[in-house]
Amino acid sequence: MRISLLGANGQLGRDLTQALAGRDLQLLTRQHFDVKDHAAARAALEEFRPELIVNLSAYHRVDDCETHVEEAYEVNALAVLNLVRIANGLDAAIAHVSTDYVFDGRQSIPYDETSPPSPLSIYGNSKLAGEFLVRTQAKKHFVIRTCGLYGHAGSQGKGGNFVETVLKKARAGEPLRIVDDQTVTPTATADLARQLAVLLPTTHYGLFHATNEGACSWFEFAKAIFEIRGISADLSPTTSAAYKAPALRPPYSVLENKRLKDLGLNRMLHWRDALAEYLG
Ligand SMILES: NC(=O)c1ccc[n+]([C@@H]2O[C@H](COP(=O)([O-])OP(=O)(O)OC[C@H]3O[C@@H](n4cnc5c(N)ncnc54)[C@H](OP(=O)(O)O)[C@@H]3O)[C@@H](O)[C@H]2O)c1
Repeated sequence: MRISLLGANGQLGRDLTQALAGRDLQLLTRQHFDVKDHAAARAALEEFRPELIVNLSAYHRVDDCETHVEEAYEVNALAVLNLVRIANGLDAAIAHVSTDYVFDGRQSIPYDETSPPSPLSIYGNSKLAGEFLVRTQAKKHFVIRTCGLYGHAGSQGKGGNFVETVLKKARAGEPLRIVDDQTVTPTATADLARQLAVLLPTTHYGLFHATNEGACSWFEFAKAIFEIRGISADLSPTTSAAYKAPALRPPYSVLENKRLKDLGLNRMLHWRDALAEYLG
């Protein structure tokens, strides 16, 4: 299977490259083209003629999206529509990765693929716009929503990932105040990549939730990182209100991998096991 991977240098991109080893891959980074350059994207993809285009590129600095609204929609929606048109022209499938931030977090049980989205932020709205463009315009598509990614490559756009950031601060003896009022499922990109390698070669198209199993707050996640590493850190809980981030985050954005489970395809580990594997 010929697969083009956009955002191949990112944390999910690096792990997916490994999980798809043996396939005929076109690895595309910002060095090849900016996804906002529609003609350059078309030229590169039409030259390779993939059977599947996987889009991992995104403008996902959540707080910056609030002030860079055009950039958010250009990357997270308009560039995605261009990729959809290219995929349709090549009769290729498109796989697009989206986010738990399409939900407002008013629910207190996990969101499944039938739950109505209602984003709180520009980032969430722009990603939802991208989802809708894929779901309504692509002939063959996967939209995969995930949550709280961390991987060894570190998130390029965010300058590191949560795990490495808290470990670095703890090693430097800095106090850590971590929000305890956002319930999520941190997800290891290595595990998600293995899951995608199972799903994407199939023709089970449509919308999927794919996160690690279980749920915790960011504070509980930080606590688990230090427990597993055997580090004593100056860690205490805080609230989103005290943190004063520019963008609103959902207080609860746990996703249920319902469709993967219904199809017998769910391979995702519990978040604690995935974290132990990452730290190990
Ligand atoms: N990180 C999370 O917690 C999280 C949670 C839920 C969903 N997601 C979604 O998961 C996907 C992968 O995220 P990730 O954490 O692996 O991100 P990442 O490590 O930042 O990787 C994204 C990649 O896309 C590239 N990219 C960004 N803007 C681009 C542009 N305009 N043109 C070309 N390439 C561009 C980046 O290149 P540069 O390094 O040059 O910018 C980077 O290599 C994204 O769709 C994101 O929205 C992420």
